[in-house]
Amino acid sequence: MALYCCTIKFICMLILSIETSCDETACAVVRDGREVLSSVVASQIDIHAATGGVVPEVAAREHVLKIVPVIEEALAKAGVNWDQIEAIAVTRGPGLLSSLIIGYTAAATLAKVMGKPLIPVHHVAGHIYANWLDRVGEDVTDSAGKNIAKDDFPIVILTVSGGHNELVLMRKHAEFELLGETQDDAAGEAFDKIARLLGLGYPGGPAISKAAFKGNAEAFDFPRAMMKSGNLDFSFSGLKTAVLRVIEEEHTAKGQLSEKFIADVAASFQEAVVDVLSEKLLQAAREYQAKEVHLAGGVSANLRLREMVEQKIKKYKMEAKLHYCKNLHYCTDNAAMIGGAAYYLYSSNPAAFANSESLLPSPQLDLYQK
Ligand code: KG4
Ligand code: ZN
Repeated sequence: MALYCCTIKFICMLILSIETSCDETACAVVRDGREVLSSVVASQIDIHAATGGVVPEVAAREHVLKIVPVIEEALAKAGVNWDQIEAIAVTRGPGLLSSLIIGYTAAATLAKVMGKPLIPVHHVAGHIYANWLDRVGEDVTDSAGKNIAKDDFPIVILTVSGGHNELVLMRKHAEFELLGETQDDAAGEAFDKIARLLGLGYPGGPAISKAAFKGNAEAFDFPRAMMKSGNLDFSFSGLKTAVLRVIEEEHTAKGQLSEKFIADVAASFQEAVVDVLSEKLLQAAREYQAKEVHLAGGVSANLRLREMVEQKIKKYKMEAKLHYCKNLHYCTDNAAMIGGAAYYLYSSNPAAFANSESLLPSPQLDLYQK
């Protein structure tokens, strides 16, 4: 039993978690929301790279083939057996219905057969709780046994991936308030689309950031939509159109895109996205007097985003602590983050999960419903 878990007044729990909301078949074993004993991800990237994006039927078929071996591997790597697992967590939504069904059915069946609680989790709550993974031993008790290094709420989180782009406020564990969101595309979706136009392949985020290293971020002055709107929403469709126009003009003028042009567009595009994301995050942090600011979701793997938020925190003389997953494995879809979120959700209100067997996967699941 980990010592720290008893100091934060949460119960001690070993959770097996499953995530199949899109194109990764994932299973993990996580202790007390933080200690990852195993995290297995069977990626379908190579399959979907051929089509330049995820084909739902293909993704679902792959989940069917991989789900059992991935669960077995996660248990074996963690060195635990079913008797030691105390609950089973699973992504309930949002995501592709045909993908969600596979993981959800597996989890619900295992929970029923093994007689263990089922903890359905919102995918974005998972991304948010990825920031607690591997932070074992950070909680310190004083001589009276009081926890003196607790999480510093309020926390403002920028969570961005291919499917969502949101600013979230947490005043305490397991409670989420939506502060702002994209009015059109998510930033990750824009990375994927621009990468395709530049011939850089799928997924676009890592490919664009790699190309951007060799490019000039000031080569093109791409628009920063809604930077001064005063609210905390985002819009990336105008930026996408501006980049598309520059690429089309180059095609017309030169016939093909040079390596330098691709690198310059990638760097300028990335700079515009990251500028808006970081500015809005810190605007929200100021408005809500955040003690911590977090980066979450696939786009939080972007090194320039991390760097720019750090630079702006210094420039604006802010005191908020910055957190992101040092281990890039936890930024993109994985099951450990679902096990992490499940722990905090369940610990905060176990009674809420008494009838979870009756729930079904939900492609449009809302995190902020009261
Ligand atoms: O969270 P995630 O694995 O899946 C969804 O929930 O959508 O995020 C995937 C997204 C993709 O759009 C991918 O291009 C983007 O995250 N991404 C990145 C980087 N790594 C992944 N975007 C920018 N820079 C990166 N280094
Ligand atoms: Zn995700």
